Amino acid sequence: MVKTIRKAVLPVAGLGTRFLPATKSIPKEMLPLVDKPLIQYAIDEARDAGIQEFCLITGRGKDSLIDYFDIAYELEATLKERGKLTTLEALKPSSLTAGSLMAVRQQEPLGLGHAIWCARAFIGDDPFAIILPDDVVKSNKSCVSQLVDIYNQTGGNVIAVTEVLPEHTNRYGILDIGADDGKLVEVKGLVEKPKPELAPSNLSVIGRYILNADILTHLSKLERGAGNEIQLTDAMAKMIGNTPFHGLRYEGKRYDCGDKAGFLEAQIAFSIDRPDLGPDVKQFLKNYY
Ligand code: UTP
Repeated sequence: MVKTIRKAVLPVAGLGTRFLPATKSIPKEMLPLVDKPLIQYAIDEARDAGIQEFCLITGRGKDSLIDYFDIAYELEATLKERGKLTTLEALKPSSLTAGSLMAVRQQEPLGLGHAIWCARAFIGDDPFAIILPDDVVKSNKSCVSQLVDIYNQTGGNVIAVTEVLPEHTNRYGILDIGADDGKLVEVKGLVEKPKPELAPSNLSVIGRYILNADILTHLSKLERGAGNEIQLTDAMAKMIGNTPFHGLRYEGKRYDCGDKAGFLEAQIAFSIDRPDLGPDVKQFLKNYY
C-alpha cells in the first residue's frame, strides 16, 4: 500500500526575470491567464487530484500571492450589496479551507532544489506533489491526477515528461530512459540542461512531480549544479535505483507560461475554448494572419 498524496509544494520564489518589468512589483505567478492568476490554476489542479494541503515557497515581494487566498470582506460585501452574485461566485476558488495553506520564505533564490528543501517541515515523511505554476497543462484530466493514478500503482517517484525539440535540451531537465511502453518510461538517469550533443534523449521533465520525502536527504547537502543553483534534477538523479522512478507522458498540452511566447499561446488556447470569449477571439485573430 502506498501512502496517499495529500500535500503539494508550489515554489514561487523565482525572480521571473523573463517578464521584467512586469514582474518588478507583481509576482509572475499572479499574472493572469485570461482572468485567473497562474497560481489559481496550480491550486485547482492539486485539488482535482484530491490534495488539500498546500505550501507556497515565496520570496520578497511575493506577499500578494498569500493575500490572494485570503477573504476579501469589503469586496464581497460590496458585490453582495450590488446584487452581483455571478461575480461573487468567481471569487470562490480563491477561498481555501482555514489552515490548508502554508507559506515559507526562501530568503535567496538559490534554485528550485533549494526551494523544495525550504518546505522540509511541511513535507515531513510524506510523499508529495510539486507544481510549478508557470507550467500550465491543458488536459481532460488534471496532470497531477494522472501522476497520482500512476503513483498509486507503482509507488516511488513519478514525474511528468514530454518530448522537446532536440536543439532545446539545454533549457530543461532531460531523461535517460530504460523500459518504455509509449506512455510510461523507466527513468535511468536525469541531467539538468544538457547541451544537445550531450543529451541522453529529448524527453524533458515538466513542472509536475510526485516525489518521495527521501529527496530531502539529497537536497540537504545543498550541492550546487547547473547555473550554480541547487538543482532539483540533481537530487532526483540520486534517488534513481533506490525506489521505482517513472516518467509519464501525460495526456494534454503544456504551456510554458514562464516564457513570453508560451504565455501568449496559452492566452489564446485558454480563451478560444470559452463560450464567452471564443467567438470574439477567433474573429479578431483573423486580422493577424
Ligand atoms: P524559473 O527557472 O522559471 O525561474 O523557475 P524564475 O526566476 O521563476 O523565472 P526567470 O527564468 O527568471 O524568468 C522555475 C520555478 O522554480 C521557482 C520559480 O518560482 C518557478 O516556479 N524557483 C526557482 C524558486 O522558487 N526558487 C528559486 O530559487 C528558483
